[in-house]
Amino acid sequence: MISIEAVSKRYPDGTVAVDGLSLEIPDRSITVLVGPSGCGKTTTLRMINRMIELSGGRIVIDGEDIRQKPVNALRRSMGYVIQNAGLFQHRTIVDNIGTVPRMLGWSKAKARERSMELMERVGLDPAMAKRYPYQLSGGQQQRVGVARALAADPPVLLMDEPFSAVDPVVRRGLQEELLRIQAELGKTIVFVTHDIDEAIRVGDMIAVLRTGGKLAQYAPPDELLSAPADAAVEDFLGADRGIRGLSFFGTEALPLEHGAVVAVDATPQQIAARAPGHLPYLLVVGVDGRPLGWADAGTLRATGGRGDAAGLLPHGQTFRAGKDSLRVALDCAVLSPTGWAVAVDGEGRAVGVASQETIAAAVREAHARRGTAPVDVGAAR
Ligand SMILES: Nc1ncnc2c1ncn2[C@@H]1O[C@H](COP(=O)(O)OP(=O)(O)OP(=O)(O)O)[C@@H](O)[C@H]1O
Ligand SMILES: [Mg+2]
Repeated sequence: MISIEAVSKRYPDGTVAVDGLSLEIPDRSITVLVGPSGCGKTTTLRMINRMIELSGGRIVIDGEDIRQKPVNALRRSMGYVIQNAGLFQHRTIVDNIGTVPRMLGWSKAKARERSMELMERVGLDPAMAKRYPYQLSGGQQQRVGVARALAADPPVLLMDEPFSAVDPVVRRGLQEELLRIQAELGKTIVFVTHDIDEAIRVGDMIAVLRTGGKLAQYAPPDELLSAPADAAVEDFLGADRGIRGLSFFGTEALPLEHGAVVAVDATPQQIAARAPGHLPYLLVVGVDGRPLGWADAGTLRATGGRGDAAGLLPHGQTFRAGKDSLRVALDCAVLSPTGWAVAVDGEGRAVGVASQETIAAAVREAHARRGTAPVDVGAAR
């Protein structure tokens, strides 16, 4: 565990970048430092590997004050990833990744072997090994940066805005890649960003800093969204935090209306039997069980079955029952032409439908179970 204890940093010109910061950073998880520009994120990160010396307090790793450790050994135990990857432009990708192993005296062959293994791990085509950084896209360069930081298998990874120079779609892919790698490797990661969405997506714990290097709140993402410490944190989280918080609530307990699902080849009798009166629409599914679209319940009963999928309303996006979050389910319902969301199983077969009202009720129940206040769900601010 990295323990940051009442740490302060005053630069020679008098700027107080970090002020009495205390954080317990748990092992084998991702801790995010988030906050506005200039709030001391980079300074904090660099104090952990002693690229910047602290002016007060102490940082303890596994029971030992970092000032007691030889600085080289300390830095070797920490991979460092920065914005724009910071690659050596005159070295090939494979040599960039092998930088630290080579410094540690590994043979060229062994370092190369390790580099190739890491390229695969971070999702890079091995054919790129001989290229130079300028011959890669921004997202690919960031992957090289992550691979380079992992090369000597350090237990700790320090990442300073690693994905902020790439477009949102690529960024999303890099975040997912990081989570996948983390699930396999279980590093202790300190991740700096000023993007709250990124913080919520990747963080196990989130430290919100405010200008002047003070801690505003330290909490897991769901707690941060449901119970911001004060108005400033609330403001920083943005107006749609209630909706975003729903991504932490599952759909296991969401009641589904099974009777609304009818097969495309159903007989008039079956339709009459399956259709509960309060459902204005029925979901028509193919012989494989996959949704085809919505039919007006009255029309379907009057005409006695469809026989084909023509004239159906599009069923829209679907959610995986019990797997996707309430946020996904609500999104499906909001986008659906009928206001009902379609739940499917792992094979894409419809297992039921849920109305916006049912989903809203499930949201209220989920909040009640957790003892958190339902915030702004669906309400404009
Ligand atoms: N070498 C330095 N000398 C004096 N002041 C500095 C120095 N480095 C940083 N600062 C100041 O310390 C404060 C914190 O800087 P820091 O780089 O840690 O912020 P940050 O949270 O990483 O910001 P950003 O999101 O813009 O990267 C800022 O006010 C900055 O101007
Ligand atoms: Mg910074």
